[in-house]
Amino acid sequence: MAIERTFSMIKPDATKRNLTGAITKMLEDAGLRVIASKRVWMSKREAEGFYAVHKERPFFGELVEGMTSGPTVVQVLEGEGAILKNREIMGATNPANADEGTIRKTHALSIGENSVHGSDAPETAAQEIAYWFSETEIVG
Ligand code: CMP
Repeated sequence: MAIERTFSMIKPDATKRNLTGAITKMLEDAGLRVIASKRVWMSKREAEGFYAVHKERPFFGELVEGMTSGPTVVQVLEGEGAILKNREIMGATNPANADEGTIRKTHALSIGENSVHGSDAPETAAQEIAYWFSETEIVG
């Protein structure tokens, strides 16, 4: 399988509970390498832009409110089959449906406070990485 890059976020519900290190360790233990990382406090405009694909959904307001309620750690992850691997270690969107040992089963509180986000395909990975990082911030 090819070496890929994917985009990951450790969301405010997790950073508020001081889980940045615990979650990053789960990503690293799964074979992913953090090749870029920064802690941001998203503006409403940034959160709305990032999640624009969901803007007609009933939960959009709640999603933006949660994402602007505290710091988020945005990361670029690299590894073999990184996009799928990251989604496997994250677990299902709703932690109630997530497999044992996944990040969301271990740490998430609810579907709205589900601790992490990860890109779902190569196209979205490229877009999401470019939304938060310049090329010079991705250092390997
Ligand atoms: P994420 O992978 O970041 O992509 C979109 C987010 O919207 C998702 O994780 C959830 O946090 C959130 N979300 C999806 N469905 C719901 C829902 N029914 N209620 C509240 N939040 C949701």
